[in-house]
Amino acid sequence: MNHKYLNKMDITDRVCVITGGGGLLGLKHAEAVTEGGGIPVLLDIVDAGMERNKKILMEEYGEDVRCECIITDITSREKLCEVRDNLIKKYGHVDVLINNAANNPKVEGGSKNLGAIRFTNFPVDMWNQDIAVGLTGAMLCAQVFGEAMEKQGKGIVLNISSDYGLIAPDQRIYRKEGVPEDQQTVKPVSYSVVKHGMIGLTKYLAIYWADKGIRVNTLCPASLSNGQDEEFVAKISNLIPLGRMSDPDEYVCTILYMISDAATYMTGSTVVLDGGRTSW
Ligand SMILES: NC(=O)c1ccc[n+]([C@@H]2O[C@H](COP(=O)([O-])OP(=O)(O)OC[C@H]3O[C@@H](n4cnc5c(N)ncnc54)[C@H](O)[C@@H]3O)[C@@H](O)[C@H]2O)c1
Repeated sequence: MNHKYLNKMDITDRVCVITGGGGLLGLKHAEAVTEGGGIPVLLDIVDAGMERNKKILMEEYGEDVRCECIITDITSREKLCEVRDNLIKKYGHVDVLINNAANNPKVEGGSKNLGAIRFTNFPVDMWNQDIAVGLTGAMLCAQVFGEAMEKQGKGIVLNISSDYGLIAPDQRIYRKEGVPEDQQTVKPVSYSVVKHGMIGLTKYLAIYWADKGIRVNTLCPASLSNGQDEEFVAKISNLIPLGRMSDPDEYVCTILYMISDAATYMTGSTVVLDGGRTSW
């Protein structure tokens, strides 16, 4: 059977840059790109996660899987230009940018990870760092890889936000029983601001590039299951109409759809995969 519509998700040989490619969702983006026939180019500030993700891809799709791992800091425009120029030299084009990297402080598990961080004592250094990676880094990647896309007259940017780009964190799920109020840790304000900001960046760029052949959209993943403790899982599941956290695999088909020609009429959109949480 000729799959007239499913064939639109074929992204053979498209060069797809994935920031934060060494992380949990970085692997899912890379799987989506690989299944579509494209070339995932993982960018990360550290090597270990990228190598682990590449190894998993090779186990899943075979030794000859095409996956590049590039150590770089997305807060440096100079380094990003170097990456782009090398990719253009090697492949002649950059087709997709997935702005996925962010500082994602794990509050779940209690204050042992971060210390007792409240809004009123939230360190400005941490704010600056989170904004630098999550927002400035995404803007710089859009500038640098977008310049190549402008020249090509074609390109796709997928910005990764969160349900926390749409709603405030319910801080009750991060509370630890028996810990005094001033020792409790909250989900940091910078996370909300970065994730809301990604939606603003998407809308700005979608309009800016509407007549340049570049589509820009946001995906909001939510509540990824990743070995969190039982108490946290129970509390967060209670806030989700589907009654459970998400499996990272549940994002892959949507990612491939959004970075393919199956979604040619989609720009400026926010796609929410949250088990219904923001509808409640
Ligand atoms: N995990 C979740 O539950 C969840 C839920 C909703 C949204 N998200 C979003 O999905 C995205 C990925 O989340 P994740 O859970 O895979 O995070 P992760 O922490 O596993 O991965 C993030 C990666 O970004 C890299 N990174 C950090 N600073 C960098 C820099 N300056 N330059 C290059 N790389 C850098 C890190 O080394 C890390 O490998 C994030 O934007 C996050 O906000 C995650």
